[in-house]
Amino acid sequence: MTDPWQECMDHCVEVTKQAGKMIREALQKDISIMQKSSPVDLVTETDQKVEQLIIHTGTVPHHYFIGEESVAAGAPSILSDNPTWIIDPIDGTTNFVHRFPFVSVSIGFTVKKEIEFGIVYSCIEDKMYTARKGKGAFCNGVPIKVSGQEDITKSLVLTEMGFKKDPEHFKIMMGNINTILAIPVHGIRSPGSAAVNMCLVACGGADAYYHMGIHCWDMAGGAAIITEAGGVIMDISGGPFDLMSRRLIIASSRAIAERIAKEITVFPCGRDDTEG
Ligand code: IPD
Ligand code: CA
Repeated sequence: MTDPWQECMDHCVEVTKQAGKMIREALQKDISIMQKSSPVDLVTETDQKVEQLIIHTGTVPHHYFIGEESVAAGAPSILSDNPTWIIDPIDGTTNFVHRFPFVSVSIGFTVKKEIEFGIVYSCIEDKMYTARKGKGAFCNGVPIKVSGQEDITKSLVLTEMGFKKDPEHFKIMMGNINTILAIPVHGIRSPGSAAVNMCLVACGGADAYYHMGIHCWDMAGGAAIITEAGGVIMDISGGPFDLMSRRLIIASSRAIAERIAKEITVFPCGRDDTEG
């Protein structure tokens, strides 16, 4: 039986390569930085241009899309049953403006709210991560797998330290880092691109990643990749993963994911499909 979405995925990989080239070229020029919701929520002309490139040359006319910069400009962020492209043109904009080398283009494609494929292109490293539901995960065409680590005391954990909300969030976020370090784990890292973090766990370079306050466009591409690489993805509370919930845990094993869920103090971070 032919795979109805494989052609879409192949085309999307090509467009993602063009997007990555556009980002690498922009890094050679002056970058003018604009602010979005706060002084640490940054956007550049390149974020906007890359999103337009993907929407106009990547997506299929009758398909829907949710793109970070389109939502920032007022477009709705509602996940329906329709074929939908969930696009982050630059995941790691802060890295991009500092030329810190973890910058990715992330695309997830859903049908009936299920992720059919995911693409994350870490474009400075030139690593193209891809996953089609049921067909495995790959980096530059080579199959990837999670580490399989079960023992949290032997794990390397990723999280991010975005400080966009109030002091109470900041206190809980730092308290969570303290708690995880004290388990103890081998270490905590913050590469600065949620999508790259998910791929690092998918290929065994780290054993877990947790985050509250990210968005569906940060998670959609990586969610396919971590699942197909044999990893676990769940809500921060330990329940089922919800793409619009703005929070997640991923890990190399259920044991590590569940332990993180048990240790973490949760703070409210709203949803992508409702305001707030
Ligand atoms: C951000 C990155 C960062 C994470 C932020 C995200 P952006 O995405 O993934 O690692 O800490 O929460 O918003 O804004 O660069 O697309
Ligand atoms: Ca972005």
